[in-house]
Amino acid sequence: MKLRAVLFAIAIAGVAGAVTAADEPQVLRQGLMKGVGQSMGALVAIAKGEKPFDGAVVTASLETISKNVKAFPDQFPAGSETGMESEASPKIWENMDDFKAKAAKLGTDVDATLAQLPADQAGVGAALGIIGKNCGGCHETYRLKK
Ligand code: HEC
Repeated sequence: MKLRAVLFAIAIAGVAGAVTAADEPQVLRQGLMKGVGQSMGALVAIAKGEKPFDGAVVTASLETISKNVKAFPDQFPAGSETGMESEASPKIWENMDDFKAKAAKLGTDVDATLAQLPADQAGVGAALGIIGKNCGGCHETYRLKK
C-alpha cells in the first residue's frame, strides 16, 4: 500500500514535469490568436487615427498575423478538443478541411496586403476591411461564445 502511494506520487510528478501547461496545443493556439488580436488592435488604432501611421508597426503587425495564422491550424490534434479554457468548437474537428481553408484565406489576404503595403491611414483602413471579415467569418462557426 505504501509502495503504491510512492509510485503514484512519482508518476504524478513525472507527468507534471514532462508536460508543462505552455506546451499544450490549447495554450499554444490561444497564444497565437492573442497575437493576432493584438496585431489587429494596433492596425485598428492606426485606421481610426488613434495612433499615427507607422509603416514599421503596420508591417510587423501584418507579419505576426500571417505567421500566427499559418501555425494556428496545426494546434488542433485529437484529444485537444477541450481544456485549458479553450473556446474551440467541436465543429472544428467535424469540418477540419473547411476550418483550415478559413485559416488559409486569412493568411492569403494578409500576405496580399504585405505584398502591397498600405502607405497611409486610409490604406490601413481599406486593408482591414478585407482582412477583418475573416475573423468573424471563422469565429461565428468555430469559436464557442463563453
Ligand atoms: C480559421 C478560424 C479563425 C480565424 C480566421 C480567426 N480566428 Fe480567432 N480564434 C479562432 C478559434 C478557434 C479561437 C479559440 C481558440 C481556443 O480557445 O482554443 C479563436 C480565438 C481568438 C481570440 C482569443 C484568444 C485567447 O486569448 O484565448 C482572439 C483575440 C482572436 N481569436 C482574434 C482573431 C482576430 C482578430 C482574427 C482576424 C484577424 C481571428 N481571430 C481570425 C479561430 C479563428
